[in-house]
Amino acid sequence: MIKLNINNEVHKVDVPDEMPILWVLRDVLNFKGTKFGCGIGQCGACTIHVNGQAIRSCITPITVANNAKITTIEGIDDKGEHAIQIAWKDNNVPQCGYCQSGQIMSALTLLEKNAKPTDDDINSHMSGNICRCGTYSRIKKAIKEAAAVLATQAGAKS
Ligand code: FES
Ligand code: FES
Repeated sequence: MIKLNINNEVHKVDVPDEMPILWVLRDVLNFKGTKFGCGIGQCGACTIHVNGQAIRSCITPITVANNAKITTIEGIDDKGEHAIQIAWKDNNVPQCGYCQSGQIMSALTLLEKNAKPTDDDINSHMSGNICRCGTYSRIKKAIKEAAAVLATQAGAKS
């Protein structure tokens, strides 16, 4: 039995040790926001956070997540009021939308370590997240807008 903390809720699952986290999320626990793209760690569609680190859930066995803190796209803000969600909406970032939960999960880890990312920072950090619709310029703009809002919010708290 594997114990998972997903978006601050505990789930216990009885699955094979080698089952990828993505399968457990989507097929066992019905968290459908995280997407299956390539299945070989190359596209970023399945990105989630495990203990604050962005990982490719399609190639990461569930045992890695045992007792760890998992955050999926559903755990960002269920009202859609996180700065990154607002920036994504304001900029109409998604086209088909398929890659976007992975894009957002990767962007969040960038913003956690870099409060004011440059174009190069964004290109470098996001290079593993592929968008077949080519929404890259809108993603970049939205990340910068979210960064500015998060900086203002941090300033207001300090
Ligand atoms: S589905 Fe996991 S990296 Fe593509
Ligand atoms: S929005 Fe279609 S793949 Fe990215």
